[in-house]
Amino acid sequence: MCGIVGYLGSGSALDIVLEGLEQLEYRGYDSSGLTIKTSEGFKRVRAEGSLDHLKQKIEKLEGPLGIGHIRWATHGTASLENAHPHKVGKIQLVHNGIIENSEELKTRFKYNYQSQTDTEVIASVISDFYSRTGDFFQSVFETTKLLEGAFAFLAVCEDEAHSIVGARKGPPLVVGFGKEKEFFISSDLPSLVQKWTSRVAFLEDGELVHIQDGRCQFFSSDGSLIKKKIQTIQKEDQAKGKEDYAHYMLKEIFEQPHSSLRVLKAYTEKGQINFSSPLFQSAEKIFIVACGSSYYAGLYGKFVLESIVGIPVEVDLASEFQYKSLILKPKDIVLFISQSGETADTLSSFHQVKKRGVTCYALCNVRNSSLDREVDASFYLNAGLEVGVASTKAFTSTLVLLLLMALNKQKDHSLVSQLFDLPFLIDQVLSKSEQIKEQAVLFSKYKRFLYLGRGPHYPIALEGALKMKELAYIHAEGYPSGEMKHGPLALVDQEVLVIGLAMKDFYYSKNIMNLQEAKARGGFILTIGDQNHKSVADQHIEIPSCHPFLSPILEVVVLQLIAYHFACSLGHDVDHPRNLAKSVTVE
Ligand code: M6R
Repeated sequence: MCGIVGYLGSGSALDIVLEGLEQLEYRGYDSSGLTIKTSEGFKRVRAEGSLDHLKQKIEKLEGPLGIGHIRWATHGTASLENAHPHKVGKIQLVHNGIIENSEELKTRFKYNYQSQTDTEVIASVISDFYSRTGDFFQSVFETTKLLEGAFAFLAVCEDEAHSIVGARKGPPLVVGFGKEKEFFISSDLPSLVQKWTSRVAFLEDGELVHIQDGRCQFFSSDGSLIKKKIQTIQKEDQAKGKEDYAHYMLKEIFEQPHSSLRVLKAYTEKGQINFSSPLFQSAEKIFIVACGSSYYAGLYGKFVLESIVGIPVEVDLASEFQYKSLILKPKDIVLFISQSGETADTLSSFHQVKKRGVTCYALCNVRNSSLDREVDASFYLNAGLEVGVASTKAFTSTLVLLLLMALNKQKDHSLVSQLFDLPFLIDQVLSKSEQIKEQAVLFSKYKRFLYLGRGPHYPIALEGALKMKELAYIHAEGYPSGEMKHGPLALVDQEVLVIGLAMKDFYYSKNIMNLQEAKARGGFILTIGDQNHKSVADQHIEIPSCHPFLSPILEVVVLQLIAYHFACSLGHDVDHPRNLAKSVTVE
């Protein structure tokens, strides 16, 4: 949510800040803005909407220093006056996060506020301190002591042509070291490593950075100077760009044979599962904590872990978990699932658990993300960079990884060899993309979508519905098939499209029965499975037969394609669904 970038060096700050914002556009697209120090002083440009709007507004701006912002609105609409950088007096500032006491600070630091944001007040407080002390860094430091909530921000001062101050509490901030006396700052690591430098230092919570006149200094929350370790990060070998695909999302859907193979290879050797440790040997209970799609993957994880390992598993939404009374025992293990490793609710839940001394594992995609750096051990999705806001390949990689973790050290390895068929099976499903596109176009007459499944298919029903909601902006609901008659069946009429996950497995006959009940109430029934039950299905999408632990992975690929093609037929920008951002760094 919101991305910030800064640069000081001998290159063109404008080019670098714009490149940085392009990399960070997945974090928001409500507005963007930047300020560049030119020979005529700081020039600020802001625009509503996508980054292209900003680029169209900019003429030449030459200078060695700049900061920029891409916004996902929290306080105030996506308007020009709410776009960053915010400027108060001689201070300009870009911010990612939420200042929870902004109203209180606005009352205390009176100013003719121009925006509805919680950010402008940070600039106002810094400006107030600065007007009294004339010390820019000290003013920022004093300001951070007054801020409640979450922030990563960068500030510049018109009196200091070669100075940027950054501060972090919550959302990430990474400093990159380029050529001599060249510094980059960004909200994420990939933007630095992919584009500019592999030498980086991460700001930890409460820390500040002061880049000034070719020097970069770090400070702890008590203001003392700290020595930071500069790490060299390997650039991940991953192609950027959409290649020939219309959208990142479609490219990422089609990458799934490869991404699933990558995670399989990462944790197997000579056909045997190969985690370095027994993982759950002494655990009495496993908790899985995550948000959104990662949470749904966790529900699938519960199913396979309980079935295979036989340890009870509780799956919690991170946004709820962090505020509940935690009943954790020393031998419990908590798995945090997060593609980005930066989701605020997941991180905050992790911090609660860490205080209790319980073992914490991460399943994450982005290496060196905040979660990855802090947990006891990380297991990587190996999905490659996921750009589309709607998670696709990271979701399927999470399912594969959870299954591998469940199968670790199990004696029966017959499923492991079947796992290696998965990339081919996914390929077969992908070959139906054009057929699914034709079917999806006809769905526009339905006003509501219901996704039904049982057992390991239920989390997939939830995920399918989420894909439909976020991409097509249509009300969609995932439900356990057997629960329909306890209430939701009342919703079913001719305006409802019911998508039934109906593999011919243990759950099949009961599922078909529940779908018959929906059909009898006028619902249009689309089934996804390895056998067409013609008496119930108005339409059917055939997928290959496979082990019941694997079929959910094939089903979700179909549901991704349905949501993708349907949303495209409605003319939506599927890579940038409205109101959303890929990395959710606010609570
Ligand atoms: O990066 P994370 O896995 O922690 O993200 C969690 C959710 O924000 C994410 O899965 C979200 O629900 C996606 N937009 C779903 O497509």
